[in-house]
Amino acid sequence: MKKEVGCWLLTLTCGLLMVACSGGGSSYKIGVSQCGTGQWREKVNQEMLAAQHLYDEDAEVVIACAYDDTERQIRQIDSLANVGIDLLVVAPNEAAPLSEAIAKVRAKGIPVIYFDRKAGTEDYTAFIGGNNVEAGRACGDYAKEQARYGAAGVRRYVGTEARVMEITGAMTSSPARERHEGFAESMKEYEGVKYEMREGDWTSDKACEIMEGVIGTAEQPYIVFCHNDGMATGVYKAIVEKGVEGQIKVIGIDGLPGEGIEYVQFGHQVGSYVYPTHGELVVKLALDILCGRSYERDNELQGMMVTAENADLMALNSKELMNQRRDLITIQDKLEDYFGLYNMQKNVSWLLAAGCGLLAVALLMIWRAYVQTRRTIRKRQDLNVEETLFYTNAESRKLRQVFEMTEEEKPQPKSQDALFAEQLNEAIRRNMMNPNLKMDDLGEEMGLSRVQLYRRVKQITGLTPVELLRQMRLQRAYALLVSTTKTTKEIAYEVGFGTPGYFSKCFRQQYGKYPTEVRTEQN
Ligand code: FRU
Repeated sequence: MKKEVGCWLLTLTCGLLMVACSGGGSSYKIGVSQCGTGQWREKVNQEMLAAQHLYDEDAEVVIACAYDDTERQIRQIDSLANVGIDLLVVAPNEAAPLSEAIAKVRAKGIPVIYFDRKAGTEDYTAFIGGNNVEAGRACGDYAKEQARYGAAGVRRYVGTEARVMEITGAMTSSPARERHEGFAESMKEYEGVKYEMREGDWTSDKACEIMEGVIGTAEQPYIVFCHNDGMATGVYKAIVEKGVEGQIKVIGIDGLPGEGIEYVQFGHQVGSYVYPTHGELVVKLALDILCGRSYERDNELQGMMVTAENADLMALNSKELMNQRRDLITIQDKLEDYFGLYNMQKNVSWLLAAGCGLLAVALLMIWRAYVQTRRTIRKRQDLNVEETLFYTNAESRKLRQVFEMTEEEKPQPKSQDALFAEQLNEAIRRNMMNPNLKMDDLGEEMGLSRVQLYRRVKQITGLTPVELLRQMRLQRAYALLVSTTKTTKEIAYEVGFGTPGYFSKCFRQQYGKYPTEVRTEQN
């Protein structure tokens, strides 16, 4: 029984603690492996973080950055998969080398979303990002349009040849290849163009270096298309350094507020293509996949050209959007604080409830144990008394039969002897505590002379009245010793011994041990 209660108690405690520690709500862990840094990626990261509590289900977005290092990204993907993410969002730094690491994640049954960039393997759950071929084509078309006009809007290159240079991102990544594909396609359709492609690496330094090498030579282009606005700033730097402002038109991609849009407003670039971010849609797609809802496998995000005509409006809108997102993040931070507090309070309440429950059960168990122990002690005492009375000696056995029988046990109808024994027993019990009790007094109470009393007692019990009286006193004393906490002295007086010393002596004669020994044994 005690074992059962213990198990029950343990299960209850574990259950309560588990509920307390779980914090109550569930959320999906989304691991994000970003290939690099830069404003565009920071914007996406912010959007994803701001969307953690935006939808019906909560998402926990964990972002790792590989800083344009493919080996590092492979390790990061491995460790993300090992920390128990529910889904991986990856923007592969390079397409081919990351295929194996991604395949391993898929083999573990973890869904993978390619975001913005793709890897070499087709084994992915979904893709979401801008259409890079389309981005390249749109920039190509815009470059052709720009080629027709001079810096001051004068129609200039029609019929003549305009040099166009494309500086690509790292060609091992999918966007650089696709942007190039779209741009080159667009260039083919225009004979008035002398188009050449140079391979860059997404950095502004590399683009600046390439540009410095061609400015002032026969290869100096009229239009430069860079695969991102970061590289476009490198190109513009070279233009300023070489003092050829107004002679070269620059087009970039990304179209971010505070970057590409601003460069167009300042006139550093003639255009920038808005390469969409939409981190919130990435989180939504992830949740749709995780919750088993239907979703599109390939999700294309819409981009558009920023030009001198729309740059101001775009800047205004973007600023507005940025403010709203900042507010959203502030609200989310506050919400997270509240959630934290709420969860903590909830956990404390659970723990308190668990503590109270445990205390109540413990008290119940203690009470039960106490009652049980008392019952056992009482039973043992009763047994001891019985045993004592039974095993003392032959006379007492005889006496027990005569004097200790209960009403029911007594034979009916009673004999003269039995009646006498009963009366005598009664009389002795009533007067036992009187140390000066005389046989004359007992005889008188029984209506017998001293001699008559002597004879009848002797005849029935084999003992003299004095012996019988002492015997009964000692038996009563024994019973009190084992069933009460009264001292030996108190018991001696209670059963009618004049002094405790004499009582001890008689007791030893009768039972072979002193009253104190019986008490010690009893304890
Ligand atoms: C940032 C970035 C962007 C570019 C995108 C393409 O790492 O280079 O500037 O548009 O990646 O994936």
